Amino acid sequence: MSHAGFLTVDEVAQNLKVTRQTVSKYIKSKELNAIKMNKSYRIAHNDFENFLTNNSIAGEPQIAYLKNSKNCLLDYPDKMDEFEIRYSYSKGAIKLVDKQHDLNDNKFIFGDNLLVLKNLLDTHSGRIDLIYIDPPFATGREFSSMNEDSAYSDKLIDSEFLEFIRKRLILLKDLLSEKGSIYLHIDKKIGHYVKIIMDEIFGYNNFINDITRIKCNPKNFSRNAYGNYSDMVLFYAKNRDKNIWNEITEPMDKEKRETLFTKKHPKFGYYTTNPIHAPGKTIDGDTGKEWKGSLPPKGRHWRYSREVLTQLDEAGLIEWSNTGNPRKIVLASEHKGFKVQDVWEFKDKGLSYVDYPTQKNFDFLERIIRNSSNTDSIVLDCFAGSGSTLKVAEKLNRKWIGVDNSTHSYNVVKETLKQSKIKCNFYEYTSLT
Ligand SMILES: C[S@@+](CC[C@H](N)C(=O)[O-])C[C@H]1O[C@@H](n2cnc3c(N)ncnc32)[C@H](O)[C@@H]1O
Repeated sequence: MSHAGFLTVDEVAQNLKVTRQTVSKYIKSKELNAIKMNKSYRIAHNDFENFLTNNSIAGEPQIAYLKNSKNCLLDYPDKMDEFEIRYSYSKGAIKLVDKQHDLNDNKFIFGDNLLVLKNLLDTHSGRIDLIYIDPPFATGREFSSMNEDSAYSDKLIDSEFLEFIRKRLILLKDLLSEKGSIYLHIDKKIGHYVKIIMDEIFGYNNFINDITRIKCNPKNFSRNAYGNYSDMVLFYAKNRDKNIWNEITEPMDKEKRETLFTKKHPKFGYYTTNPIHAPGKTIDGDTGKEWKGSLPPKGRHWRYSREVLTQLDEAGLIEWSNTGNPRKIVLASEHKGFKVQDVWEFKDKGLSYVDYPTQKNFDFLERIIRNSSNTDSIVLDCFAGSGSTLKVAEKLNRKWIGVDNSTHSYNVVKETLKQSKIKCNFYEYTSLT
């Protein structure tokens, strides 16, 4: 401690187990009182204690920021202050280079997404309902097309990669609407670190799912390891339980139909039957009374009122066994599909079958877009690659914005949207400095 009664920024950071940039953030936002001495800040003991009291949980000195991340914070060199990320980089201009329609959205912006997102905040802050991003995965590789056109470089690794993604996520959060969601596609080597960063930014409580995506056929290599045939998609809401959710179910396939609906009705087609009673006794209610000469079995009650049971029977939807036991007919044709779970199989196609390396499966994107956006929503993909997200968003009548800084991506998006007769305004970001 350099001055009696005062702490340095580093000492406060050590105490709070956060970076010095985070402490600067508290000073700048006036949450933590500090005094400038010579060229650096000092924090009086009293002020530090007040800060702890105001932000502590369960008696332990924990800061508010930690509450977001369940008391874990990812620390690495050169982690920039959130405040600086929001307010530092200069803005440039977004210039229209090819106009194909008069709408405000449905556009592709060529440029570094950090700078483009900064500009986009002027017009789209709090307006994006769905963000899907599939950034580079810190593989240290270069990606090229079938014709060996260089598509994009994935050379940022370790903490530099994490900081790259963190900066963009901070801006993306500001673009999300109150009912918005973000899906981030990543691999399992770096994904768990990204999860902690997303917790810091979006809040642990707004984490919804870590979806395992089966990306290829099982692997049969000779390494001392299990085959790694999946990657992950981290799904967060801006505000949990307020996020758009359309409960899209998985349709029943032939195999499941054959297992679950084994009987065939001459009029209604494939069906199965369910009991018409359920556990629990009704003392006085209608569902405990005699229906068609029978009482519900001991300790059980009718699942439906007796009036509904009669209607079902008249419609031919009660099956009576030889011994007079009634069961409800459940039709395969009325099956509403299955709740989607958090393991999805959507395999990538080989390079010779796609427009762009690492291009994602359209059905996979369709599930995300249908579930987490509405027809008036704007969908954003700022690592657009081939523009697959934009094409699926268009198919589903959403508005869309794509961003990418690869010339190959720009050319592929332009060419393939044209082939699909999808109109798009093309812009380019130019720096003003
Ligand atoms: C994994 S690919 C996305 C593929 C895409 N999901 C698809 O289905 O085609 C990642 C993309 O991020 C782009 N990218 C990487 N860094 C970027 C940056 N700073 N600004 C904009 N785009 C970037 C790359 O050019 C590349 O096209």
